[in-house]
Amino acid sequence: MTEYDDQENIFGYRIPSPFCVLHRSEFIPAKKLVQKVLDGLLDEVGLMNYFSFSELEKKILEIYSSDHQFDKSIETIVIKELERKYKNAEVVKKIRQVIWDRSKSAAQNVHKIIKRVLPEKEKIELLDLGCGQGVLSLYLLEQPEFDEIQLKDIADFRYREVRSEKRLHFAKVNELRLAKRNHQKYDCILLHTVLHHVRRPDEIINFCIDSLKPGGVILVVETCVDVEKDGLCAKQHKESDSNRHTKGFLSLDTKNQIAFSVFLDWFFCKIMSDNILAYYQFNSPEGWKTFFKRFDGLNILSENCSCKGFDVSHSPSFQTVYVLSIRNNRP
Ligand SMILES: C[S@@+](CC[C@H](N)C(=O)[O-])C[C@H]1O[C@@H](n2cnc3c(N)ncnc32)[C@H](O)[C@@H]1O
Repeated sequence: MTEYDDQENIFGYRIPSPFCVLHRSEFIPAKKLVQKVLDGLLDEVGLMNYFSFSELEKKILEIYSSDHQFDKSIETIVIKELERKYKNAEVVKKIRQVIWDRSKSAAQNVHKIIKRVLPEKEKIELLDLGCGQGVLSLYLLEQPEFDEIQLKDIADFRYREVRSEKRLHFAKVNELRLAKRNHQKYDCILLHTVLHHVRRPDEIINFCIDSLKPGGVILVVETCVDVEKDGLCAKQHKESDSNRHTKGFLSLDTKNQIAFSVFLDWFFCKIMSDNILAYYQFNSPEGWKTFFKRFDGLNILSENCSCKGFDVSHSPSFQTVYVLSIRNNRP
């Protein structure tokens, strides 16, 4: 693979490397929006003087152009260099705080949806699958329906506060051995911006179908690309107007929406977080629906293009919320 190669994800979308987003002219619109978003975020936390997008860009391109082959080792060098400079610095700490605060509103919204779809349940057995830092579940614990919450991930990225909470039970899982042991165990499984990070989203959904109790639901919050200016997402966005960057995102063509999402995913997973895996399995809102419909025994209860509250400032692309239920006569 060379620096100019795009890869195709499992939904057939062409995925450029994060480096290409910075230097290929076809991605100038994506790069401009990345710059606005990152500089806006730094401004929000009062760190414009410490760090800027152009500084980051310069560093990446400098390392990158020292070797014209784009491969894993170059990516590792870039990450190491950037980590050395920015990790543990004030900028990372403050941006993490913003992410932390955003998890609170995400948890409130997740709770609202769970209450709506499982109104009868006084106590809910919840699995936060692909929990990442685990902050969302930490906030969910404040709600009376949750005595304890199960967390699973293929890696352990939990924050200290999450590790020390006894009612959050974490298990590190091997992605291929997720199923079997969890047969019909949970009332609700949360996949909060997880599916596009996963190598095989179909395996995760099959695991969820097997692991839900009858009447249980899967709550999927997913980042979407290929969002049309006049589609449902755009209309719902106009109603809520919750993120000032979503208009900019909508004005990008599909290629640039993907490039924008790739860069921010890469930046936040590799630089701001602890090297979280990113598979860039981006899909359109319609594409996700088509994907879910392929599973026997799965119903789409509701679909909502979120702007209302799933406003994650570090990833201002459209987040679509799907509630999936399993049919009683599932296989
Ligand atoms: C963007 S993070 C989302 C974290 C959290 N749900 C949140 O919203 O804050 C995606 C997470 O999915 C996890 N992941 C990737 N592949 C997985 C798999 N096959 N099984 C479980 N988790 C997986 C990653 O390790 C990562 O922590």
